Amino acid sequence: EKGTYPHYMLKEIDEQPAVLRKIIQAYQGPDGNLQLEDETIGALTRADRIYIIAAGTSSHAGLVGKEYFEKLAGIPTEVHISSEFGYNMPLLSERPLFIFISQSGETADSRQVLVKVKEMGHPSLTVTNVAGSTLSRESDYTVLLHAGPEIAVASTKAYTAQIAVLAILASCAAEVKGHPAQFDLVHELGIAATAVETMIDRKEEMETISFDFLEMTRNAFFIGRGMDYHVSLEGALKLKEISYIQAEGFAGGELKHGTIALIEEGTPVFALATQAAVSANIRGNVKEVTARGAKACILSMEGTEEAGDRIVIPAVHPMLTPLVSVIPLQLISYYASLHRGCDVDQPRNLAKSVTVE
Ligand code: F6R
Repeated sequence: EKGTYPHYMLKEIDEQPAVLRKIIQAYQGPDGNLQLEDETIGALTRADRIYIIAAGTSSHAGLVGKEYFEKLAGIPTEVHISSEFGYNMPLLSERPLFIFISQSGETADSRQVLVKVKEMGHPSLTVTNVAGSTLSRESDYTVLLHAGPEIAVASTKAYTAQIAVLAILASCAAEVKGHPAQFDLVHELGIAATAVETMIDRKEEMETISFDFLEMTRNAFFIGRGMDYHVSLEGALKLKEISYIQAEGFAGGELKHGTIALIEEGTPVFALATQAAVSANIRGNVKEVTARGAKACILSMEGTEEAGDRIVIPAVHPMLTPLVSVIPLQLISYYASLHRGCDVDQPRNLAKSVTVE
């Protein structure tokens, strides 16, 4: 039920801090440490390479997950779009583990890959919101998102839940593999949940930004580097699907290799600059576009911010910024859809779960 909310999407955006806390609880053992079933951990630690298979928003969460598996647990990881993987399979490693990320657990493109890799005899793990879904039933292992039903077609809380659960998977794998913990994930996820709450309380500010940057535009760009690049893809997808504004997310460094030709007077560019290591580079990209007339909205983090940044998120661990930086982007898309009179929860041409290939 959406209760007093005008749309499911807004309700689901608001639920994100509670979802993150529920996930921490669900995967915390009696000693307070994160824990997973032994078989699941075994599958992760046996793998010499992880192949993440997903579509749409779930694949964007997968890109963040890749960073966790590689940087926290030292497991090489590839992210593949399910519709491409089936007929264009890369050379596989000796002991691959396939991780399917799917909110619904019903996406036909992903299921088709699962059927194939099972035939080949490879182990599979599904990260899903729906216990008993097709992908969950047919794969060897399941890890649940605990996000509660997601009704709006545009995925919001499932994306943040997927990122949190992938961080937990990677961190548990790291522990069993004897990789020293780089940070206290339970503690940092708690801080991130509070930061998400803070961003959710800033709706009016996001509505104003949405109006200032998107009222008249036909297109918009999202740029970032590293972690921020992954989130820029998600920001663009969210805006496209519910407001029908043509949006593109891309790596800041790629601008000069073509896309910059599209920048005109007034083109909105959302630039994510939460990562201290690449902050100077992305700010350089912002200068390149504003010199050509773009209107830039810089999203940074306490500690990486500079005067004039339009959105500054609270400080969180640099690896967990996607959980927080995506919130203003979800809200900006929501208000763009609302201002344009679009159907927020049921955008045209889209279905919640895509059960055809
Ligand atoms: C975007 C969106 C879609 C889904 C995609 C995969 O907001 O909802 O891109 O993420 O169709 O769906 P699942 O995760 O159910 O496999």
